[in-house]
Amino acid sequence: TRPFQVAIDGPAASGKSTTAKMVAQRLGFDYIDTGAFYRCVTLAALSKGIDPSNPSQALQISNLAESSHIGLKTIFSTTSASKSSLPTTKVFLDSKDVSFEIRTGTVSKHVSAVAAIGPVREAVLQKVRDMGATSISQESNSGRDGLVMDGRDIGTVVLPNADLKIFLVADSRVRAERRLQELARSGSKEEVLDIETVQKDLERRDELDRTREVSPLRKADDAVELDTSLLTIEGQVDAIVQEVHRRQ
Ligand code: C5P
Repeated sequence: TRPFQVAIDGPAASGKSTTAKMVAQRLGFDYIDTGAFYRCVTLAALSKGIDPSNPSQALQISNLAESSHIGLKTIFSTTSASKSSLPTTKVFLDSKDVSFEIRTGTVSKHVSAVAAIGPVREAVLQKVRDMGATSISQESNSGRDGLVMDGRDIGTVVLPNADLKIFLVADSRVRAERRLQELARSGSKEEVLDIETVQKDLERRDELDRTREVSPLRKADDAVELDTSLLTIEGQVDAIVQEVHRRQ
């Protein structure tokens, strides 16, 4: 039997990655952040001086997507006392740790344009599927017997046969507040943004993600929708873990 697969999709800052990491930790599953792949390709393009919003650069960006080596390493707590702490994921682009660089405002601003390029999505899809296939079978991960993946098209395209599909939604104001808190916690050195700007940026990104031609952000027909506006992280993690147990 193949490992249990959980697909988590939803708009920007809906709490996907925090929820997905906590669910993976609670269940002993592996975790793959697919947004990190698009962020790495965006960073690679920007650092080569390519303007991602210029359509004539699409081929160059697609080539970069194909040739880039992207690696993820999530560190889970194993002791029961620390099981409620948040696992951390390190992201590597061509062996360089870019975990912080891919979260900057500049990358966030351009990533949806990059993610709308068809051949970029094909290249990322291949890499994500390869990682999903190997992460579970690797020696170092032999203890992990399931997979949680988060993104925008996991339930619809990447893992269409996932055993559980979750679609997280939350009010955009609530999401903007959470994003600001997250930035404050991470000790980001970037200029402090006001909530209106953050909210507008999230809404702009969602609009691009929802209306693009290739694999737009949408709830899969068989996904369970979870509105997290009024839920705590613990509450949403519990709900998903229970649903996994019910289906296992
Ligand atoms: O999840 P995160 O905010 O890091 O994703 C960054 C961007 O990558 C999203 O706004 C979206 O444009 C793109 N993305 C995507 N498909 C995925 C994951 C992310 O198009 N599966």
